[in-house]
Amino acid sequence: MRVDVISIFPDYFAPLDLSLIGKARASGVLDLGVHDLRTWTHDVHRTVDDTPYGGGPGMVMRPEPWGEALDALVPPGATPPPRLLVPSPVGVPFTQALAYEFAAEPHLIFACGRYEGIDQRVLAHAETRMPVTEVSLGDYVLFGGEVAVIVMLEAITRLLPGVLGNADSLDEESHAHGLLEAPVYTKPPTWREQDVPEILRSGDHGRIARWRRDEALRRTAARRPDMLARLSTEQLDKRDVAT
Ligand code: ADE
Repeated sequence: MRVDVISIFPDYFAPLDLSLIGKARASGVLDLGVHDLRTWTHDVHRTVDDTPYGGGPGMVMRPEPWGEALDALVPPGATPPPRLLVPSPVGVPFTQALAYEFAAEPHLIFACGRYEGIDQRVLAHAETRMPVTEVSLGDYVLFGGEVAVIVMLEAITRLLPGVLGNADSLDEESHAHGLLEAPVYTKPPTWREQDVPEILRSGDHGRIARWRRDEALRRTAARRPDMLARLSTEQLDKRDVAT
């Protein structure tokens, strides 16, 4: 997968050399380019922002450098075209389902806004040549899109084929089936007077699977009733309903 990131703080992305994302890059599974938006400015101050029309606090990112950056990074005639993702608190909520959708794209471009955001005409113009999605990490406001891109790239990269050693873990993890995952334990069997639940040491895989399912349901009901309410009857098996 090809990913381009445009930001006025390219140094933010140094951690993407580390750990499993770094490995995905080294192996060629993830082909990542980070670009300084100021490359596409032409004045001595390399200006990227200006005051908002209509008044109000803060600054807005000017459209010209963004337009030139996208002209440079969108391959002419590419089919499918890249998908432009713009992190923003006004975006649609980022979810595991969106991570899967983005992981299936051959080319993503992330546009990191700062200040009060990017002039809306940049997104409107980009929409004439590629799909554009404004995406929010949650109901809070960050300084800019950089950290949001790191979060989304991590969620997307671990779904790419060959990145996780054991792809089965994708099937069992939180959010995979609309539930939070059950608690996990390792050795020693007793630590600070707390025992690992006996059932996990029983070797009875049927009972263990049932216990994990029940714990996942319990946790989800307590912490995320909204997720439980969204589960379809097909996602709840008959024994779930009995418990
Ligand atoms: N930029 C600023 N706040 C953000 C948020 N909540 N999600 C994504 N990008 C952002």
